[in-house]
Amino acid sequence: MVTQLKGKHFLTTDDWTKQELDTVFETAFDLKRKFALGESTRYLQDKTLFMMFFEQSTRTRNSMEAGMTQLGGHAHDLTPDKMQLSHGESAKDTAIILSRMGHGIASRNCFYGIGKDYLAEMAKYSTRPVMSLQDDVYHPFQGLADLMTIFEYFGRTPKGLKVTVSWAYADTHAKPLSVPQTQALLFPRYGIDLTIAHPKEFPLSDYIVEKAKKNAELGGGSLNFTNDMDEGIEGAHIVIPKNWGGFGNYGIQEYLDNEEEISMQMRTDLEKYHDWICDERRIKLADKNVKLMHALPADRNHEVTDAVIDNPDISIVYDEAENRLHTAKAIMALTM
Ligand code: CP
Repeated sequence: MVTQLKGKHFLTTDDWTKQELDTVFETAFDLKRKFALGESTRYLQDKTLFMMFFEQSTRTRNSMEAGMTQLGGHAHDLTPDKMQLSHGESAKDTAIILSRMGHGIASRNCFYGIGKDYLAEMAKYSTRPVMSLQDDVYHPFQGLADLMTIFEYFGRTPKGLKVTVSWAYADTHAKPLSVPQTQALLFPRYGIDLTIAHPKEFPLSDYIVEKAKKNAELGGGSLNFTNDMDEGIEGAHIVIPKNWGGFGNYGIQEYLDNEEEISMQMRTDLEKYHDWICDERRIKLADKNVKLMHALPADRNHEVTDAVIDNPDISIVYDEAENRLHTAKAIMALTM
């Protein structure tokens, strides 16, 4: 167990050793048990977390705010319109000032080519831990909740477990790459055999795939890709249908210079793949005891049918969502 985590930033699980992550999971399981028993866990009494959300959120915002309350502290729920950053105040000045007034900073900024760098800039200047609540590249809190849920259903050593993350159609905004990229980086470190299925127009970023393959080698898992959703799901113990935008096709500068044109191209590409849905036919291709996971919100009847996501024998999405609370509390209690 690693106990020297006070002050450590949490921007990606990739910056945390497996031993450190194991400490987080042990803490999360302990906090979950205490939550169920109604035991007090006021480890952050009188402490303040500043949360800055550049985008909407249900699970992340509430797991952090409820988590801080349950840990005895308080979270400020900030949005750009409430802050001087809407008038151009820098990430550096914001980080220095907030870190002098409280004990942690957490932010969600998913703008492609901007979010991760914004958080890194805050971390550079903050004297308190900075946490990513999702950016354009990583969603580390989601990765922790996913893995905790996998441990609960399949045991703490999921070596050889077949997990499939499949791109799926969605009728909403172009979602960031951060969820599948975090899963690609994290799951194989625990011995999981991860398959990522996606249409050729919706790849992950090359540098993340390269790093994820190295992680798989070290962790004893594997990482495979297919452009066929059926093939990807065949025999899987866990299926995670998830839409993401075609950002991985474009360099950051290329995207920032041609945002309107690229967004239109991504929309055109998206419309070719309405049939990429996790439905009852496809879920039958998986292992007979398959579980369905999803970070939520789900684009119901586009990414996954109601019949699959509402099937209590298959779907564990609400356990996964609840685990956002326990893992968030673990990171905050250990780092703040
Ligand atoms: N999974 C997730 O991050 O959900 P929210 O967008 O509601 O926070």
